Amino acid sequence: MPPRTSADIRQAYLDFFKAKGHAVISGASLVPENDPTVLFTTAGMHPLVPYLMGEKHPQGSRLTDVQLCVRTQDIDEVGDASHLTCFEMLGNWSLGDYFKKEAIEMSFEFLTKTLGIPLNMLAVTCFEGDKDAPKDEESAAIWKKCGIPEERIAFLPKKNNWWGPAGKTGPCGPDTEMFYWVGDGEPKGNPKTRDSEWMEIWNDVFMQYNKNEDGTFTPLKQQNVDTGMGLDRVAVVLQKVDSVYDTDAMKPIFEKVQSVSDDLSGKNAVRDIRIVVDHLKAATFMLAGGVLPSNVDRGYVLRRIIRRAIRAARKLGAIQAAGFCSGVATTVIDQYGDFYQHLSAQQSMIIETLNREEETFLKTLQDGMMHFQKVIAQLSGKEISGLDAFHLYDTYGFPIELTKEMAAEQTINVDEVGFLKAFELHQQKSRAGAEKKFSGGLADHSNETTKLHTATHLLNAALRKVLGDHVFQKGSNITAERLRFDFVHPAKMTSEQIKQVEDLVNDAIKADAPVSYRLMTVDEAKAAGAIGVFGDKYGEQVKVYSMGTFSKEICGGPHVAKTGMLGSFKIQKEESSSAGVRRIKAIVTGGPKEIEVAGETK
Ligand code: SER
Repeated sequence: MPPRTSADIRQAYLDFFKAKGHAVISGASLVPENDPTVLFTTAGMHPLVPYLMGEKHPQGSRLTDVQLCVRTQDIDEVGDASHLTCFEMLGNWSLGDYFKKEAIEMSFEFLTKTLGIPLNMLAVTCFEGDKDAPKDEESAAIWKKCGIPEERIAFLPKKNNWWGPAGKTGPCGPDTEMFYWVGDGEPKGNPKTRDSEWMEIWNDVFMQYNKNEDGTFTPLKQQNVDTGMGLDRVAVVLQKVDSVYDTDAMKPIFEKVQSVSDDLSGKNAVRDIRIVVDHLKAATFMLAGGVLPSNVDRGYVLRRIIRRAIRAARKLGAIQAAGFCSGVATTVIDQYGDFYQHLSAQQSMIIETLNREEETFLKTLQDGMMHFQKVIAQLSGKEISGLDAFHLYDTYGFPIELTKEMAAEQTINVDEVGFLKAFELHQQKSRAGAEKKFSGGLADHSNETTKLHTATHLLNAALRKVLGDHVFQKGSNITAERLRFDFVHPAKMTSEQIKQVEDLVNDAIKADAPVSYRLMTVDEAKAAGAIGVFGDKYGEQVKVYSMGTFSKEICGGPHVAKTGMLGSFKIQKEESSSAGVRRIKAIVTGGPKEIEVAGETK
């Protein structure tokens, strides 16, 4: 019997790839641990970038996992049948191991045998070729040999059939995508001829190129495979339902919102319910992942989606008493807490935070109403300006529809074009911000970031020596210019302590200690006194990096081979990050331009 429930699909996927020689690894945190240049983990490959670039993975060259992802670039599509902000990606990887033939054959076997999807419901796309890489006839031929008829194979350009790099530079390559027929009647055509009737369910990426700063592509050291299958979409297929909100995992959340909604007569009611479900599910997972609502970065993304959910819920008349968001979050936790135990463990924090956020926003809405009255009172003509409408939107969270509706009651117009202009300008600014953040690059394993990464380990160890063992890493962010390290410590550091830490790190650099790693299980790493984020990685092999006898820490790498390559270390700033968490910014200068990368201790 093919799997049906979401839990069974997850398990079937991992079991299938395990039987094909893949090590089952834990999904990484939603907030990237070692790559703080991105806001959220957006694909299973993110945490694996160093290994796609050639670092050795402790679990071997065939891996599989379930990765929780957040993608905000599709947020405007949310509300349709298949796009979600927060979703689970099933993935399998070959790190310089198998390539196109095996990857496609395994995908085909899993889809048609394990999941029992009829061949005639499937179609695929392949890369049509351009100046950077040839037409992917090879993949098409393999699909044909598997039994996919020619008319179900479409060749599409880079926009469709090329994945990555995740940042500006890094691993990428042509991909082949698998689709399921969701149109009416018998399947027809392919994703090129009948785009909207075919739903993408899986993507096999052949990561064999590195995209360089100047936009050119060079072959990677190794040929990798990176695949990603959307669990929710596969559940739609196997459960024969119409949307990702109707699956066993999501339907109870949808029904919860529906049951407390007073007004389902609006023409967008279903879409609004879906937005509430999607956004509050994402918010629940973000909170569990350690993100708190704020006005910057991830915290701002979280705040916006909570507010967007509240606005949609108000349209549905779903907020009748305090605690609406947390009520929905409780259903999310009921649905996902078995597999994602960190959700259940943090239930009370999630509920309290959502209650607080909801209360504040509803209060902001009140203030917005007052501001609206003021705007009206000061109007000289009969039109609210675009800037005022945007101010109501941006500061008080008033959707343009609400402003229009309230204005219409007093026979006043709103300059919608002006609003859209102000909105677009704002979008461009935040988009530029997001791109800048991204371009620091996942794949930025440059010499400078490698040095700063090693310096971060030395800093962590020195802080523990000077301040005590309660110090542990809360976050780390490395750019080519500086490191930023957040750690638990209750008080501001004195200048004396800062100096001591700096000196300890510089002594460790001067000692020019060798850096290398050993592979061990988490239990062995703990027994060896290694520090680091152990997460849920029980029983798995991890890399433990030693820097002389000064530092021993679990980490994916890469690092420099000798501490002397760091030159000299300087703390530029020590400040508060949040309650009980301090933040240090530091630099290294004067080391060699070329570095050697630390290897394994045999
Ligand atoms: N990285 C690819 C994607 O996100 C395959 O996992 O689609």
